Amino acid sequence: MSSTLMRTVPALRAAARASAAKPAAAAMGTSFVRGKATLPDLPYDYPALEPYISGKIMELHHKKHHQTYVTGLNTALETIEGAKSKGDLTKAASVAPLLNFHGGGHVNHSLFWENLAPASREGGGEPDGALKKAIDEDFGGFDTFRKQMNTALAGIQGSGWAWLVKDKQSGTLGLVTRANQDPVTGNYVPLMGIDAWEHAYYLQYENRKAEYFDAIWNVINWKTVASRFDKS
Ligand SMILES: [Fe+2]
Repeated sequence: MSSTLMRTVPALRAAARASAAKPAAAAMGTSFVRGKATLPDLPYDYPALEPYISGKIMELHHKKHHQTYVTGLNTALETIEGAKSKGDLTKAASVAPLLNFHGGGHVNHSLFWENLAPASREGGGEPDGALKKAIDEDFGGFDTFRKQMNTALAGIQGSGWAWLVKDKQSGTLGLVTRANQDPVTGNYVPLMGIDAWEHAYYLQYENRKAEYFDAIWNVINWKTVASRFDKS
């Protein structure tokens, strides 16, 4: 797994933030019905993010790609349950990579849809309130943060994601990248992620992925990102 972390946080400020941090992370926006993962509805229509992300990309990305992760996750969980019932722990353990891939794909995309919004509504602009203050303190300003995020995205080799995260212990913000569909786990709460898989942009931007990384900032829903920040 490749990962990077870039933070510029004096220890004293981190300690102060930690003491103010709230204890529990918000539940992710993943959906389960009777123990099965399900494809969540989008909070906007497929063409609503145009011209920055085409309706065709959104439809394929949601209906086909995300659905594949949902189906794969349920299959992996069923395989594990079946193996457990037979006492075949070797078989159960062998499913771990599929569980990570499809489970990560479901979690990551569920977060991704929520942190996007049409530019004509909540999308774009800059965060305000406590999240703005934290970005200013931890990155030196919104423009610097956006440049660092785009640099992290450009540095992903192959498929993966870049995430704005909050450190559970210190309460400070950072940037991490994850390969493939590896989810953000452990000490970090994912606040906002950008999908750097080719399926997220190729139909519209072809090989010009830097244009996609620039365009997507016009449809980031800072209200939902701020909500995750406030609850974590
Ligand atoms: Fe994706």
